[in-house]
Amino acid sequence: MPNRPLNVGLVGGGRGAFIVHPHQKAIHFDGTRRVVAGALFPDPKIALEEAAKWPYPIKGYGSYDEMIAANRDLPEDQKLDYVLIVTPNFVHFDPAMKAMKAGIAVFCEKPLCLNLKEANDLVRTSRKLKIPFGVAHTYLGHWTSRFSRYIVRSGLIGEVRWADSYYLQGWLATKLEATGQQQATWRVDPKRAGGSGCGGDIGTHALMQLRYVTGLDVTHVSAQLERYVEGRLLDDHFTVYGKLSNGGKALVRASQICIGHKNDLGLEVAGTNGTLCWRQEEAESVTVHLSNQPDRVYWRGAVTPGDGFLPKNVPADLMAEPTIPSGHPEGFHDAFARLHRCFEVDVRKWKAGEPFTNDGSKYASVEDGWMGIAFIETCVKSSAKKGAWAAMPKRI
Ligand SMILES: NC(=O)c1ccc[n+]([C@@H]2O[C@H](COP(=O)([O-])OP(=O)(O)OC[C@H]3O[C@@H](n4cnc5c(N)ncnc54)[C@H](O)[C@@H]3O)[C@@H](O)[C@H]2O)c1
Repeated sequence: MPNRPLNVGLVGGGRGAFIVHPHQKAIHFDGTRRVVAGALFPDPKIALEEAAKWPYPIKGYGSYDEMIAANRDLPEDQKLDYVLIVTPNFVHFDPAMKAMKAGIAVFCEKPLCLNLKEANDLVRTSRKLKIPFGVAHTYLGHWTSRFSRYIVRSGLIGEVRWADSYYLQGWLATKLEATGQQQATWRVDPKRAGGSGCGGDIGTHALMQLRYVTGLDVTHVSAQLERYVEGRLLDDHFTVYGKLSNGGKALVRASQICIGHKNDLGLEVAGTNGTLCWRQEEAESVTVHLSNQPDRVYWRGAVTPGDGFLPKNVPADLMAEPTIPSGHPEGFHDAFARLHRCFEVDVRKWKAGEPFTNDGSKYASVEDGWMGIAFIETCVKSSAKKGAWAAMPKRI
């Protein structure tokens, strides 16, 4: 394809929307991608008004159907290279399917969709059409997540015995949805959020972080989905004891009622030689504890291969990934930018007719999204049987 910035179309993002904003900043981070169009709201009139108010000029559409249909007749340099889906969970499947079928790559928010049937269809369609599909598991984009993955997956802390992956928040400790707060109202509604509230919303991030860093799958779950705020239909507290594919065990837990916790996503991995600890609220460093040795704190951008713990041959692409020197903090937007940057590489290869494979090492794949949905469905079943062990479905 010609050397021009990739064109991105938004599905969702108008009127008080949240996650579109970190995304749109991240899309523009490198100057090689730009938002050019959007179907920003379910009501067509408001969608056009919202597009007209966007902070920079974009082409507004009354619906994503219109945006996708119009794309067919645009000149090559104006065609959408990918859509970014930032709608509530119940509006992921339909625009993702329609975009893929119209030959537009998809970057979709998590959880991938509402249920396993939809997830199966999305995986099969993206494979059949050989089209790039990314899922926005933000936290894989922190350099320290990449580094943690390298440490654990290369065996530097030994065989994984145990992991604790958690995502704790406190913002739904009261009945916030009763005030009409936009982000709360759809998240507590099974029709719009899916079969699990807290688990689907942030438990899927905890699962993804665990799988990404360890390379292990959760094979069986014993789950307790609990509701602490009266009148809620979905869980606001989610605790899962899991068996790992290497025989180890893990806790995957999430809560929205833990007052004081903001976006407290963290992972501890205990191996036979050491323990690795990572927290997204302090994502500039990773701590490694080894028996009878001082703790090692590794800062992004200040890592020395061959230091007595790290081998000399830490992969060059990992070492080259930081964007600014250590001490100038990266954060949430940088993590999103790293995901969009890596997705861009695959979209450009695909557009040029070159082979591309998303092995999940740079951004979450549609198969990773599938795994999140399979996990939620299995946890819902286990919890309905008072935490009885339930096996995860086989990968498709
Ligand atoms: N990756 C992350 O860290 C992260 C963080 C927050 C939210 N999310 C996910 O992002 C998605 C959106 O969450 P949010 O908190 O930004 O929600 P939000 O309610 O703030 O925004 C949703 C937007 O979608 C629009 N919308 C709804 N139906 C639409 C339709 N048919 N056509 C066009 N627009 C439509 C709404 O008008 C709104 O602009 C959810 O799937 C959520 O799970 C991910």
